[in-house]
Amino acid sequence: MKQLINAIPKAELHIHIEGALEPELMFQLARRNDLQLRFDSVDALRHAYHFSDLQSFLDLYYEGIRVLLTEDDFFDLTWAYLKRAHADHVRHCELFFDPQSHTMRGIPFSIVINGIHRALERAETQFNLTSRLIPCFLRHLTAEEAMVTLQQLLPYRQWIVAVGLDSSERGHPPEQFAAVFERAREEGFLTVAHAGEEGPPDYIWQALEQLKVSRIDHGVRADEDPLLLEQLKRLRIPLTVCPLSNVRLKVFKTMAEHNLKQLLEYGLCVTVNSDDPAYFGGYINDNFLALQQALELDRQAIFQLARNSFEAAFLSNSERQRLLNELDQFIGRAVS
Ligand code: HPA
Ligand code: ZN
Repeated sequence: MKQLINAIPKAELHIHIEGALEPELMFQLARRNDLQLRFDSVDALRHAYHFSDLQSFLDLYYEGIRVLLTEDDFFDLTWAYLKRAHADHVRHCELFFDPQSHTMRGIPFSIVINGIHRALERAETQFNLTSRLIPCFLRHLTAEEAMVTLQQLLPYRQWIVAVGLDSSERGHPPEQFAAVFERAREEGFLTVAHAGEEGPPDYIWQALEQLKVSRIDHGVRADEDPLLLEQLKRLRIPLTVCPLSNVRLKVFKTMAEHNLKQLLEYGLCVTVNSDDPAYFGGYINDNFLALQQALELDRQAIFQLARNSFEAAFLSNSERQRLLNELDQFIGRAVS
């Protein structure tokens, strides 16, 4: 099973590139940029990775981000993730990043996106690993600030497939961003939003009805509302679920209590993703494996999750078909 999980072709659709900043790289970039971290060593930093909820994680995540200053820093961060994803047999990935967490520190948006994009191009040539970019608005900041950020994206629209919404969920309902998301859709972007990770099912309704999202990020609290489950199934709205993140941030007490299997059996298009792999104890295959073991998922469930990842991806029909064919060939070999 471990071998199957490792080798199956898959897409990763919920990864914050800043959350792929491993402690070793954080120290390396701090040294390169002449910055002092408040931790003495990589081990001390890793030791601080105990979270009580989403906010306790975000505090450390935004602190870590401060070592990212130059285009090369963003390239190195993204390239490190892509090498890891390639080793995990990720065939397509869609990366979130948080422009405001950088522009508010005085880093120009062009530095951020050029560094990330250069790594994505290299992965496509070197690994045949395709990708898309999804900048997210920070929901703890205002809708006006999000609108300014949207303007900064426009010159780079050819590199951007969608916009998202992340950061502290509780007390920051999606409806506050309805006008920004409407503008983003008018500009030709798809939309996604984090909803129903810590926030109530009503936030998922708002994301669907007011932000008109094509996917829900997390969405695990949908199971508290039968009508919502029905709607997600009827519209075939994918959920990008992040199991290790959910356990680390105490959305579920243990992996055995995770509801992914129920959501899958109900017929939703759920996918498995790593969220912030450097902080939550693993990359995409670690997430698959932890789930599979805790919930005793069978091979059919793994096949379905991989298939869902390509179905839910923002790919052209021809790209999707090529990857689904690759998956079918893999499954054919695995079952023979
Ligand atoms: N949730 C919300 N916002 C985030 C996360 C997350 O898991 N990671 C980075 N920003
Ligand atoms: Zn996330």
